[in-house]
Amino acid sequence: MHKLLLDLAEGVPFSGNLREDVSAFLTVHHCPHTLTHSLRVAAEAKRLAEASGQDPAGAEAAGLLHDISACIPNAGRLQSSQALGVDILPAEVTFPPILHQKLSRVIAQALFGITDEAVLSAIGCHTTLKPGASQFDHILFVADKIEWDQPGTPPYLDRLKQALARSVEHASLVYLEHLWNNRLSLKVLHPWAEEAYRELYSTLDRSATAEADSDRTRLPSAGTPLAQPLGGEA
Ligand SMILES: [Fe+2]
Ligand SMILES: [Fe+2]
Repeated sequence: MHKLLLDLAEGVPFSGNLREDVSAFLTVHHCPHTLTHSLRVAAEAKRLAEASGQDPAGAEAAGLLHDISACIPNAGRLQSSQALGVDILPAEVTFPPILHQKLSRVIAQALFGITDEAVLSAIGCHTTLKPGASQFDHILFVADKIEWDQPGTPPYLDRLKQALARSVEHASLVYLEHLWNNRLSLKVLHPWAEEAYRELYSTLDRSATAEADSDRTRLPSAGTPLAQPLGGEA
């Protein structure tokens, strides 16, 4: 195992109980805010999985681990990703905090023994989603957006919950549309988010939940360069 991972595990009394181990790990790394958020996301993901006929235990595990890389500060995420052999996209060089989804996947696999590809995939795209996402990917993505870790109420929350009555994929589209409409104020547009938005926009009926400003929301044709990229939560 890479020394960087061994160092991260140092002082953590792994017990084999995932909830206890995530709690111990984030406590050792002084990330109480992330622990609170992760417990809430885990509960929401489990609830969404039960409602969708997906694996609730896997969804709970994905929620517990999705932000586990909070132990690596933003300033060290690019270097850590390089050291761990993570596939790094140009947008992630521009905005390294967004690498935390990929780093969390690596840590979940290496230190917490997660082998279920569905769980690892969901963790690895929980911030941006990705084209061809599974329903399980959507569940963690949406749970994270419902239980967002910023102050106040998410501006998209009512529409997202309205869309959730149709499907978790519709709920993902609401959040991606929110990102798209605010892309000029964000640090970077991750290509997975843009591709997922284009895919869902073209395949789902968004008539009941679209934002009111149709000019802002309008999607340019594929390949049209964006004025500025879009980003997500850390
Ligand atoms: Fe995250
Ligand atoms: Fe999160």
